[in-house]
Amino acid sequence: MDTDRERYLKQQIELGGAEVILTRPLGEVMRASPIDRPVSAPAPDPSAPGPAEEMRLPKWKQGAPPIPGPGLMVAPPVPSLLEGGSTAGESLESIQETVRGCTRCFLHQGRTNTVPGEGNSKARLMFVGEGPGQTEDQTGRPFVGRAGELLTGIISAIDLRREDVFIANVVKCRPPQNRKPLPDEMAACYPYLQRQIELIRPAVLVALGATAAEALLASRRGLGELRGKVHSYHGIPLIVTYHPAALLRNPNWKKPTWDDIRIARQLLDR
Ligand code: URA
Ligand code: SF4
Repeated sequence: MDTDRERYLKQQIELGGAEVILTRPLGEVMRASPIDRPVSAPAPDPSAPGPAEEMRLPKWKQGAPPIPGPGLMVAPPVPSLLEGGSTAGESLESIQETVRGCTRCFLHQGRTNTVPGEGNSKARLMFVGEGPGQTEDQTGRPFVGRAGELLTGIISAIDLRREDVFIANVVKCRPPQNRKPLPDEMAACYPYLQRQIELIRPAVLVALGATAAEALLASRRGLGELRGKVHSYHGIPLIVTYHPAALLRNPNWKKPTWDDIRIARQLLDR
């Protein structure tokens, strides 16, 4: 009878979220007609912005969703990873150098340029995509094709510039025909990404698409399950959203992506 509620609770447990106690069965709440709802208006939330304050908020913050609850946690925190001494590079520049000569996986054979990633070495916000496409392979720069233009637009819509953030990919060489990187390719390239994150130590990570989420969260769950949570990547809050290339194919995903990005932006201010 309470299948919605059971499914919801099961999902919470699977996602490692806090136990949820519902005062009414969820299905009943969802089905409630306006007439079932309390007649008296709920007490106003004193922390919620009023109409006048809402107008003064930066544009991206107007109507932004609240920061959601916890999701998956990838432990341990970053400092012990550093002690563990991951393989590649003492600086972003030396990672770039190592990547340039890297032959750790098959993808090195088809590349024109490696695409190690670029941006602010002290970025507070870091994006992780899947892997270079054609334009990226030709230029050696991440997200400079059509999907890249969209990402640049998204970044400026939250009042940041590309130079403020760091943009990297799971694999640093272009997969043939832009196919999804294979598990062994992702595994071969992962130490570079991990070291980049350790060196930059962003305040917030954004995984763009399922491949980035899979690499960072070591989980094959779909975006539907991973969105709308604040995951933890070795102590760094991680938001999962759609890949910009997916938005080009399906504009219906733009609104949910914009919500996710605004959650990430709010986490920066927290
Ligand atoms: N798609 C990606 O995942 N990364 C890029 O750098 C460009 C497109
Ligand atoms: Fe090396 Fe990564 Fe390129 Fe594979 S994709 S060759 S691991 S840099």
